[in-house]
Amino acid sequence: MVCFRLSLMPGSGLVSLCLVLGAVSAYALELNLMNSEKATCLYAKWQMNFTIRYETTNNKYKTVTISGLGNATYNGSTCGDDQNGPKIEVQFGSGFSWTVNFTKEVSTYSIENISFSYDTHDNTTFPDAKEKGVFTVHYPVAFRIPLDDIFRCNAILTLQENMVVQHYWDVHVQAYVQNGTVSTKEFLCDKDKTTTMVPIVPTSLPSPTTTPTPKEKPEIGSYSVNNSNGTCLLATMGLQLNMTHDKVASVVNINPNTTDFTGSCHSQTALLRLNSSNIKYLDFVFAVKNENRFYLKEVNVSMYLDNGSVFSTANNNLSYWDAPLGSSYMCNKEQTVSVSGAFQINTFGLRVQPFSVIEGKYSTAQECSLDDDTILIPIIVGAGLSGLIIVIVIAYLIGRRKSYAGYQTL
Ligand SMILES: *[C@@H]1O[C@H](CO)[C@@H](O)[C@H](O)[C@H]1NC(C)=O
Ligand SMILES: *[C@@H]1O[C@H](CO)[C@@H](O)[C@H](O)[C@H]1NC(C)=O
Ligand SMILES: *[C@@H]1O[C@H](CO)[C@@H](O)[C@H](O)[C@H]1NC(C)=O
Ligand SMILES: *[C@@H]1O[C@H](CO)[C@@H](O)[C@H](O)[C@H]1NC(C)=O
Ligand SMILES: *[C@@H]1O[C@H](CO)[C@@H](O)[C@H](O)[C@H]1NC(C)=O
Ligand SMILES: *[C@@H]1O[C@H](CO)[C@@H](O)[C@H](O)[C@H]1NC(C)=O
Ligand SMILES: *[C@@H]1O[C@H](CO)[C@@H](O)[C@H](O)[C@H]1NC(C)=O
Ligand SMILES: *[C@@H]1O[C@H](CO)[C@@H](O)[C@H](O)[C@H]1NC(C)=O
Ligand SMILES: *[C@@H]1O[C@H](CO)[C@@H](O)[C@H](O)[C@H]1NC(C)=O
Ligand SMILES: *[C@@H]1O[C@H](CO)[C@@H](O)[C@H](O)[C@H]1NC(C)=O
Ligand SMILES: *[C@@H]1O[C@H](CO)[C@@H](O)[C@H](O)[C@H]1NC(C)=O
Ligand SMILES: *[C@@H]1O[C@H](CO)[C@@H](O)[C@H](O)[C@H]1NC(C)=O
Repeated sequence: MVCFRLSLMPGSGLVSLCLVLGAVSAYALELNLMNSEKATCLYAKWQMNFTIRYETTNNKYKTVTISGLGNATYNGSTCGDDQNGPKIEVQFGSGFSWTVNFTKEVSTYSIENISFSYDTHDNTTFPDAKEKGVFTVHYPVAFRIPLDDIFRCNAILTLQENMVVQHYWDVHVQAYVQNGTVSTKEFLCDKDKTTTMVPIVPTSLPSPTTTPTPKEKPEIGSYSVNNSNGTCLLATMGLQLNMTHDKVASVVNINPNTTDFTGSCHSQTALLRLNSSNIKYLDFVFAVKNENRFYLKEVNVSMYLDNGSVFSTANNNLSYWDAPLGSSYMCNKEQTVSVSGAFQINTFGLRVQPFSVIEGKYSTAQECSLDDDTILIPIIVGAGLSGLIIVIVIAYLIGRRKSYAGYQTL
């Protein structure tokens, strides 16, 4: 099988080129959607294959590979309207379908939510399948591309899920095509950037890719939330996010200059939400306990990763930054909030007051105990106590057994 690799040509030359291409390369999928004025509104050309694992009637697992997607149809693909965004729908083989949605922001558009369905009723593709039915897998991808740029990725992109692995390569796609002309300005995926060494710097937006700046300390930002009574939450902190994805840890410093914040204040809870080009949201939820103290109870995060996927995690059972109501919590030293095994936040120069802010100013601070060794004492006492409890429990059990044995001999 010969596969032609032709780079995209600008403008009107495109269509004729594509027809030739479509005839020669059986593997490439290609779609040129027109709007009602017969102007191109969405263009896509790409290759993909799938590896599906399924359970057989004798409780073993088999894998099948779906590649060389000839004879695909594109029913349901649309340029979208005021209510719905554009989408590509592809049908191929016996009951396979593949969908991707697009959305538009002010100066960017996103490739979102890839889903793939397969039908195990087809017993030539899925011999001995235990469960017959249509299965759908969703991938919450989110590639952000400047408006009027075409996304290109010649390198292989892999999406993985429990039962299905998808590979994509030679991808060219542009939604929201302006004036019927497919753009010549390419927005490269990260893998292509490193191989071509011709970085394309989008002018309209900071690159959504996370540029790791691991060693440096993050800049300290000041955040606040207002309600009708004025400022109700104050936070000053440098934030460094550390996420582990596919066993690789990446560390991202939050730049307060390019980070937006909002939030809300209630009597028992308060929320501070940050977002930026690569952080969909980072929520800090504070709560009151015992009517006299506050603490950081919950962190929710969702981030756009370099490879186009979205990393999300949450924990609503935290207990950090604990201080009396009416005061603020302060910690100048680096401190770590461990949200999950895969996500932690390192804080620098931290000061927060989520409740009872008076005239927009911090109240007296309760400092963290990281600086002195007093924190060790409760740990030692605690360890000693739990040791004692274990001894008591063992003694009790032994005692119980003895008396039980005693009854038996009676
Ligand atoms: C799927 O495509 C990728 C990328 O071209 C290739 O490396 C892989 O071998 C293909 N898998 C199968 C089973 O054909
Ligand atoms: C495509 O359709 C033609 C005729 O309809 C058929 O002969 C051919 O096998 C099909 N190819 C694939 C890959 O399904
Ligand atoms: C796609 O639409 C065409 C014409 O509208 C129809 O003939 C064909 O059966 C449809 N294919 C699928 C898979 O629905
Ligand atoms: C993508 O999926 C998420 C969650 O299912 C949903 O909230 C969002 O609206 C979807 N986006 C599109 C463009 O369909
Ligand atoms: C894609 O958008 C359509 C509406 O246009 C929606 O019905 C569908 O659920 C979306 N798909 C995903 C995977 O979010
Ligand atoms: C596949 O299913 C059809 C009916 O759905 C049946 O007639 C045929 O024997 C099956 N083939 C195999 C190999 O199980
Ligand atoms: C589309 O056409 C309008 C008017 O002809 C023009 O102002 C605009 O710059 C064009 N946009 C692009 C991306 O070519
Ligand atoms: C504003 O302050 C008044 C008086 O302290 C209080 O009763 C009211 O609940 C406050 N409103 C909000 C939204 O916090
Ligand atoms: C909150 O209100 C204060 C005045 O009370 C104002 O200076 C500040 O800009 C406001 N902050 C936000 C985020 O709206
Ligand atoms: C990031 O997290 C990993 C795994 O938890 C850890 O090994 C690494 O030291 C952390 N890096 C920073 C800078 O916190
Ligand atoms: C943020 O803005 C300040 C003042 O404009 C500047 O000094 C600082 O270098 C900027 N920080 C970053 C990380 O861009
Ligand atoms: C933060 O989110 C708001 C609302 O969703 C959006 O308007 C704003 O552009 C985002 N900020 C950044 C820096 O991306």
